[in-house]
Amino acid sequence: MKKKIGVKISGTGSYFPKKVLTNVDLEKIIDTSDEWISTRTGIKERRVSEINEPTSELAFKASVEALKFANISPKQIDMILVATITPDMLFPSTACFLQAKLNIPPAPAFDLSASCSGFIYGISIAKAFIESGLYKKILLVGVDELTKITDWTDRNTCVLFGDGAGAMILSASYEDDNVLSVFLGADGSYSNLLFLPAGGTFSPATIDTVNKRLHTIKMHGKEVFRAAVPKMVFAAEKALEFSGKKLEDVKLFIPHQANMRIIKAVAKKMGISMDKVFVNIHKTGNVSSATTITALDEAIKTNKLKNGDIVELVAFGGGFTWGAAVIRI
Ligand code: COA
Repeated sequence: MKKKIGVKISGTGSYFPKKVLTNVDLEKIIDTSDEWISTRTGIKERRVSEINEPTSELAFKASVEALKFANISPKQIDMILVATITPDMLFPSTACFLQAKLNIPPAPAFDLSASCSGFIYGISIAKAFIESGLYKKILLVGVDELTKITDWTDRNTCVLFGDGAGAMILSASYEDDNVLSVFLGADGSYSNLLFLPAGGTFSPATIDTVNKRLHTIKMHGKEVFRAAVPKMVFAAEKALEFSGKKLEDVKLFIPHQANMRIIKAVAKKMGISMDKVFVNIHKTGNVSSATTITALDEAIKTNKLKNGDIVELVAFGGGFTWGAAVIRI
């Protein structure tokens, strides 16, 4: 009988821009306070990319680190997948820009858009391509520069977001099988609660759309909060069930870093103690497609995880989309 192809997680990497924007800095530009932001969200500071530092540049730096960690040359990569909602341009894809920067030989390269669940959607796509036998070494990146689509006059949203990138190399293997399960979902009837109205075909860019700040994130925070908790719990429980593992088998839970109160509510509903939940939102803010992979990378590089440990990633975002993955490091 033919042996099943498994998916090995060969390496991870991450990159955050140098510039730090603290809550105290924000106090100087909008009517807010460090105390309000910290208690409502858990965020203390976020990283902000330079004007001449596009999404593909952050993706490039995270990818270089992941390739080095995996000891894999760009020449060996046979597919590039970038999860982002803030591409360099509407087209070509950020994956193509990344391919050129890394000098990866002709190989399929494309972006996927699933908001904050994007990286988990990407794991599912990479797993399917590898298991089918079509591709052997996939570079998967979760990257966003939300500060470039933020309305800096809207205190309801601008305190929440940041920029960053994380990368993972997934390889075909007959020895390892590190992606135990993935569960995904979406409900487009909620698309009016978290969105960016203009710049697409629905409302092409005009002077009017710019003047009305329609090229920036619009969000109904309370409704998003209300939906996020049950959907993240649902996705996490489904992925766990499909993996055949139990809650106590999971060494670390890595939830989407959008709001500390959401993270705590999800952990409480699932009966997970907070010492098993990874949190770095205080340093990063919400970096959308990049949150779960940058958090995973930090947990690995700071020795919170060792080989063989089981980790569960779970995310929720605009769309609404949601997803969870159970992986072995
Ligand atoms: N600084 C100070 N006050 C602020 C503020 C800020 N940055 N932002 C909002 N406020 C004010 C509001 O204007 C409101 O004032 P009012 O009562 O005088 O009208 C008050 O604080 C309470 O606002 P409210 O919207 O009820 O706060 P909240 O407890 O719902 O928290 C969020 C707001 C955005 C932090 C919260 O709803 C949230 O995190 N939602 C989910 C967002 C998210 O994670 N999105 C991404 C998902 S992937």
